[in-house]
Amino acid sequence: MKSNGVTSVEGGAQRRLSLGMLSESRILRVCLGRPYLLLTTSIWRSLPVSLQRLTPVRRYGMHLQSLIRRRAVRRQSFGTFFLRNRPELELMRRLLEERGHGANVAISVVGCSKGAEVYSIAWVMRSARPDVRLHVHAIDISREILEYAERGVYSLTTPSGLTGPTDEISSGDAGGRTCMDQSASVCERMTAAEMEAMFERSDDRVTVRSWLREGIHWYPGNAADPKIASVVGPQDIVVADRFLCHMDAQSAAACLRNIGRLVKPGGHLFVSGIDLDVRTKVAREMGWTPMTDLMKEIHEGDASLTRDWPLEYWGLEPFQPRRRDARIRYASVFRLGEAARAEGRHRCAAR
Ligand SMILES: C[S@@+](CC[C@H](N)C(=O)[O-])C[C@H]1O[C@@H](n2cnc3c(N)ncnc32)[C@H](O)[C@@H]1O
Repeated sequence: MKSNGVTSVEGGAQRRLSLGMLSESRILRVCLGRPYLLLTTSIWRSLPVSLQRLTPVRRYGMHLQSLIRRRAVRRQSFGTFFLRNRPELELMRRLLEERGHGANVAISVVGCSKGAEVYSIAWVMRSARPDVRLHVHAIDISREILEYAERGVYSLTTPSGLTGPTDEISSGDAGGRTCMDQSASVCERMTAAEMEAMFERSDDRVTVRSWLREGIHWYPGNAADPKIASVVGPQDIVVADRFLCHMDAQSAAACLRNIGRLVKPGGHLFVSGIDLDVRTKVAREMGWTPMTDLMKEIHEGDASLTRDWPLEYWGLEPFQPRRRDARIRYASVFRLGEAARAEGRHRCAAR
């Protein structure tokens, strides 16, 4: 194993201790726990950004985040943005290029929250290929957020400009619901021209244009429920972004395996906003093929994830191309095929 830290001698044999092993150390966690975490966090905060990019310091950041993840109280969020990860949308558009004129394409967006991601995908795909018949399924565990998403009406009031509640799904006005779990506007990442193309505007509200709302089926459902595959049927593309990180590792892994069942043989799974160890483990176990096209760009494509590393449990570590497992660890998109499925089943059965 590559060392990133301290060296000790035990029983005559030299043993390399890494920061990763320190994170695993039960003694360290029990004895030092919170004070150790506070100390490591304050050291990190005191480092200039230029230093934080250096390899040994980045390893320290990885160690710090593993401690944060262990202690974190994970909680689901409704936060979202239109055009949140542009390279991801670009890869979806490229996948459509492979389709013939008039093809049917089924796509499911799981954990769709307020609908911004669904409408962004519909806009990019329908603009690129108006001839393709796009069947979109939007799924969320919260019926209330799904009803809100289906209406496609968003307030332009920024979260800081709100006077009412932003934390209760049913009690706020449209502004409150649009701003729920957000510190910035859902439209923050859009240009004026993009807003004009996607919305009709009236005063401080925008409504998603009707040609984008058409053909979207909204389903309340739990992504961990095995029955969900029979509800939506086999999908060409499944998107499961930024909600698995809010689950503990075991639940996220089980949920991801279930989501994989929605994908047609030869179809694609987009999954980001999840602990990388969990995604890597499941992808390996199931024999999914990582897509390297735009891999780095997609990994770095959502500033709200990269910016929060390593101090938040959902923060996304820097792309490290020299890691031996970089190809699978940093892929956010996988191709799932018959062979891959059979292999995954075989490995599971062998356990
Ligand atoms: C942070 S939002 C992500 C929204 C969008 N995917 C994005 O990336 O902008 C997470 C959403 O996942 C939903 N969610 C959480 N657990 C779920 C589950 N087991 N099945 C379906 N949806 C779930 C939550 O209700 C919430 O609306």
